[in-house]
Amino acid sequence: MKIQSVKGTRDFYPPQMAVRNFIIDGWKAASKRCGFVEYDGPIFEYLQMYQIKSGQEIVEQLFNFQDRGGRLLAIRPEITPTLARMVNQQINTLPRPVKWFSVPRLCRAERPQKGRLREFFQWNIDIIGADDVLADAEIVYCSLDYLRSAGLTEKDVVARISSRRLLAALLKNIGIAEDRLDVLYPILDKKSKVPAEAFEEMLQKEVSSGQIIRTIQQLMEVHLVDAIPSIVNLNNEAQAALDEVARVFAYLDRMGVRDFCRFDMGIVRGLAYYTGMVFEIHEVAGELRAICGGGRYDNLLSDFGGPKITATGMGMGDCVLEILLRQKGLLKDDTLDVQTLDYFVVCADAELFDKAVSVAAVLRRKGFSCDFSYKPVALGKQLKQADALKAAQCVIVGQELKESNQLVIKDMKSGEQKLVNADAFLT
Ligand code: HAM
Repeated sequence: MKIQSVKGTRDFYPPQMAVRNFIIDGWKAASKRCGFVEYDGPIFEYLQMYQIKSGQEIVEQLFNFQDRGGRLLAIRPEITPTLARMVNQQINTLPRPVKWFSVPRLCRAERPQKGRLREFFQWNIDIIGADDVLADAEIVYCSLDYLRSAGLTEKDVVARISSRRLLAALLKNIGIAEDRLDVLYPILDKKSKVPAEAFEEMLQKEVSSGQIIRTIQQLMEVHLVDAIPSIVNLNNEAQAALDEVARVFAYLDRMGVRDFCRFDMGIVRGLAYYTGMVFEIHEVAGELRAICGGGRYDNLLSDFGGPKITATGMGMGDCVLEILLRQKGLLKDDTLDVQTLDYFVVCADAELFDKAVSVAAVLRRKGFSCDFSYKPVALGKQLKQADALKAAQCVIVGQELKESNQLVIKDMKSGEQKLVNADAFLT
C-alpha cells in the first residue's frame, strides 16, 4: 500500500532542506545581531495552555489528543504560551529584560492554501520585562532588519502598525462594553481577509447599532492618526495610546526603518492576548497573507499564574516568506548551500581499495568532509560521482602510492593535478 504525506505537510528533500536552512540561518543571524538568545520548549503541551488566552481561532485549529494516561494534550500551534510558562518558572533568576528567540515547528489544522500550511516553521522574537515602547519598536526593527538582510526593500514590504490600547479606548468611547472587546477583535482582524459583506454580517451578529457598525468600519480604514478625531472623540486614554504610537514611530525613525512603516487602524491581530502596539508585515502588493505579526501582550504571564510582567514579540512563518523571496528573485536554488565535499577519495587500483577507505577515514579525522565510492568502479565513474557530490578536490589512490608512496590530488575546478607525499598529506 502506498501511503501519501498528510495534507498541509511538506517533505524536505535535500534541495528543500537547503531552502529551509537558508531561511532559518537568516532568522538566527538577525536574532543574534539584535541581542536575542535562543530557547525552545516541548512540541506538545497541555491543551489548556492554548484555551486560556490564545483565542477561539487558535483553539479551533488545534491538533489535540488524549495520551495513554488520559491527559488532554495539544501539538503547539504557537510558542508564546510556552514562553510565558517557561519565563514564569524562572522569573526570579532570569536577568531582565529577557530577550529570547526560537524557531519552533508548529501545527495548525488550517485549510491549506497559498502561504498557509498545517505544519510550518515560525521565527519568534520576544522581549519580556521591558515596559517602554522602545521594546515594541525593537521587535518591529528586528523583523525588518531580517527582511532587509534578505534583500527586501520598502518597495517590497510594509510594516503596518496600530495599537490595541488605542482601539480599545476608541471602541469604548463609541459604546462598546469592555467585556465585548475580546469578541470583537478576531472579527475586526478578519476585515481584510473576507469580503466586505461577510465582514459586515459578522459585525451585525455582535453589534446591534448600525451607527456603531459604520463608525467601526470607518475606523478600520484610518491610515492617518489625524483622521481619528473626525470619527471618534479622543479621551485621555485614547490620547495616551496615540502618544505611545507616535513614540514607536519616532524610535523606528531613529533606527533607520521608518520608510518601511505605516500607521494602520485595520491591524487588530486575531490572537486574544495583545494589549498594546500590534503590527503585521505585508508584501506591498497585498496579494499574500501577512509575512509576520506580533505585538505587546502585557497580561499573558500573569494569566498563566506569574507576576504582572510586560512582554512584546512577534512570529514570522517560513511559507509566505519563501513565496515572496522567490517572487523577488532573492532565493535561487543554485546559490543555496547544498552539501559540498572537501575531498572525494578515488580508488584507481582495486588492490588499493582498503587503503582508499583508510585515506578517507584519516581525512575525516583531520576535520575535512570526505566521501568515496563503496565499490572500486571505473575511474571515470568515480570522478563523475565526485563531481555530482560537488567535491572540491579528489585524492587518487593508485599506482603512484605503490611505486613512490605518493597520492594524486586533482583540483575539480581547474582540473590541475599534483603529486604529494602520502605520509605528509595524511598527518
Ligand atoms: P500569528 O499571527 O498567529 O501570531 O502567526 C504569526 C505568523 O506565523 C503569520 O504571520 C504567518 O507568517 C505564520 N503562520 C501562522 N499560521 C500559519 C500557517 N498555518 N501556515 C504558515 N504560516 C503560518 C503568533 O503565532 C504569535 N504567537 C506571534 C507572537 C510572538 N506574538 C508575540 N510573540
